[in-house]
Amino acid sequence: MSNRVRTAVFPVAGLGTRFLPATKSIPKEMLPLVDRPLIQYAIDEARAAGIREFIFVTAKGKSALEDYFDSSAELERALEEKGKADLLAEVHNSTMPSGAIAYIRQQEALGLGHAVWCARRLIGDDSFAVILPDDVISAKTPCLKQMVEAHAETGGCMVAAMDVPREQTKSYGILDIAGEQGRLVRAAGMVEKPAPEDAPSTMAVIGRYILSASVLETLGAGKRGAGGEIQLTDAIAAEIDHGRPVHGFRFDGQRFDCGSKSGYLQATVAFGLARDDLRDEFSAYLAGIAGSQRAAE
Ligand code: UTP
Repeated sequence: MSNRVRTAVFPVAGLGTRFLPATKSIPKEMLPLVDRPLIQYAIDEARAAGIREFIFVTAKGKSALEDYFDSSAELERALEEKGKADLLAEVHNSTMPSGAIAYIRQQEALGLGHAVWCARRLIGDDSFAVILPDDVISAKTPCLKQMVEAHAETGGCMVAAMDVPREQTKSYGILDIAGEQGRLVRAAGMVEKPAPEDAPSTMAVIGRYILSASVLETLGAGKRGAGGEIQLTDAIAAEIDHGRPVHGFRFDGQRFDCGSKSGYLQATVAFGLARDDLRDEFSAYLAGIAGSQRAAE
């Protein structure tokens, strides 16, 4: 066993109901932020953190995701002939080498914990990362890289954590805080989607995890939690009960919940404004809208 994190699991088997009807035929993870699908941001973040093995937990209707990472010789030839070097580089970046990604099916959407458990045979005994691609994090140092560096010191399990307004605790896993040191929050417990009045804190877990293989054993028991689903939160909480360390990591960066319509639109604006080729035209457009709204009030 080792603390080194070389493998990442991408659970992408959810139904994506909040984006229906689009997600009838497009996986949520293929929705673009400007011109790159959500999954590309997740893969780039994993690569930057030193991840070399990529495991996708998929489901029926997700084949567009597999196709996306395939090589596209015809397209590349056409771009080369047209001298479009920039686009060619983008397309190259989205192609994964043969054997780098493994795909495992989750037959039934029984919850995030179950999705991660489905990957158990490919994970092995080392610590591994879990990335939820619908949480997109804009950061100077990519979030998972920050976590891998911190995890090298702490070992155990680590979850990305951020403060949320108390009325939102019912949308997140929430940490019971034992102590804090810098960006590290030592967890005394973890509870999935507590009502605001029951939440032990307002420190929420978002979609980046570094987990020990022992979490997979707990998930194997198939115990149902909040919403009748097999919850990853519960399996991480069991680590604490067994006296193993679990830390929240207050990452440096801005997280967008691209699994919700409002978060997705906010991310589109933020990533559009961050682009050199779009900033001037786009910000002038936004300023125009804000101006006409003020005039109408
Ligand atoms: P969400 O809670 O966002 O669910 O899952 P969802 O199905 O993707 O979207 P909505 O709520 O219906 O709109 C969080 C992450 O866990 C994965 C999802 O693919 C997403 O990355 N997941 C969830 C699974 O892989 N399997 C599951 O059974 C549940």
